[in-house]
Amino acid sequence: MKNIVLIGFMGVGKGSVAREVVKHSDYIAIDTDDLIESMENRKIKALFEAEGEKYFRKLERHVAKWLEKSVHNTLVSTGGGFYKQENLKKIGTIVLLDSPFDAIIKRIKEHPNAAKKLKKRPLLKNLKKAKELYNERRSGYLELADIVINVTNKNPEMCAKELLKKVKKYA
Ligand code: S3P
Repeated sequence: MKNIVLIGFMGVGKGSVAREVVKHSDYIAIDTDDLIESMENRKIKALFEAEGEKYFRKLERHVAKWLEKSVHNTLVSTGGGFYKQENLKKIGTIVLLDSPFDAIIKRIKEHPNAAKKLKKRPLLKNLKKAKELYNERRSGYLELADIVINVTNKNPEMCAKELLKKVKKYA
């Protein structure tokens, strides 16, 4: 199986969809933010606060290189800015989870752990800036994606099943 690289904006549901893909397939799932947190032994939020975004992006580059060389048969869930890695296409089939910005914010706010979800994401602190970032990134996401899944009005299981069906063509 070729790797799957799951991209999309913060809060779109990459983690939830990844967990459903694992339930319905033989893929192993890993997450670039989790890899960075374990490499650094601290949370993304703490990392941003102590070292700044530039340092975080350097770690993402390191992870991207490692993924290209070392990972197979895997679903790689990525942080919202990871799509900028230049070797992304070499890692695997790129699947975008796409959603309008307002629906993403609504999804986060309605989550039982909403406060935690907002708190752990430094770039969501200011919603006006986050919306600008979304607008800046969306065309880049679409350009890169081999497969686009519109997540609006679909639960993670539905998205995962759609993903697995569409990804077969690229295996
Ligand atoms: C970021 C998204 C976050 C995390 C970091 C930066 C971004 O991941 O990598 O806070 O630049 O969009 P999620 O997309 O999982 O929230």
